[in-house]
Amino acid sequence: MQMSYLRLVEVSKTYHADGRAVEALVGVSLEVRQGEFVALVGPSGCGKTTLLHLVAGLEAPSCGQILLAGEPIRGCGRERTLVFQEPTLFPWLTAVDNVAFGLRTAGVPLQERRARALALLESLGLDGFASSYPHQLSGGMRQRVAIARALAVCPQVLLLDEPFASVDALTREALQEELVRIWQARRPTILFVTHSREEALALADRVIVLSPRPGRVRAELALPMARPRSPVELAPWLERLRDLLAQP
Ligand SMILES: Nc1ncnc2c1ncn2[C@@H]1O[C@H](COP(=O)(O)OP(=O)(O)OP(=O)(O)O)[C@@H](O)[C@H]1O
Ligand SMILES: [Mg+2]
Repeated sequence: MQMSYLRLVEVSKTYHADGRAVEALVGVSLEVRQGEFVALVGPSGCGKTTLLHLVAGLEAPSCGQILLAGEPIRGCGRERTLVFQEPTLFPWLTAVDNVAFGLRTAGVPLQERRARALALLESLGLDGFASSYPHQLSGGMRQRVAIARALAVCPQVLLLDEPFASVDALTREALQEELVRIWQARRPTILFVTHSREEALALADRVIVLSPRPGRVRAELALPMARPRSPVELAPWLERLRDLLAQP
């Protein structure tokens, strides 16, 4: 078995706000291999976003440790990119400049930045909107620009927080296929949060099921099947996942 690349060791997170302590995660241990595609599912408020923010380095765990390639995570890093649950674009930049932004700080020359950004926008079905500003785009389109921006820098770890929640079913399927294609080509390690059981089972190598808040790892489903996966072959897995999520 390949050594784990990302390790969460007994990670807990308690927020303190308005004189109140809120336990978001308790004793979460997780091992992720390099290039693995892991989905995280669990009820609203169980700490999924918190877990991604911890791995991104935006927050620090209250207890426990997070290691990437054997090194403790301290703050944000270029090798990790997060697509937020609420898409966050720079309102003063056009779609293509939003996507190219990370490449500028990485020192990629202008021509190449634009070419790469345009190719990504096209692959996400946004050709024709490269020069639009965020306020001229729909919510789902903004989310796609945010995904393109994350992909542009070819991160080693891609953290996606319900990235396809605000698009219609057809677009969602197209985006899922595109994500799998990009993942197969570049093999980033992916942590993918979703509310859709079907989406988790269709995409991931492994689905981690979290309990209601405070989130703990309740179960893991390892899916050996090649993609694309048919609804028929996923049916028994879907039933298991339903049962796991229905437990109080
Ligand atoms: N910055 C914060 N300050 C205080 N409490 C917070 C903060 N962020 C999250 N929480 C609390 O931590 C818990 C977990 O929140 P989190 O956003 O991680 O859940 P989630 O699983 O992503 O939910 P959803 O599926 O609705 O997005 C919630 O009870 C939330 O109120
Ligand atoms: Mg969330």
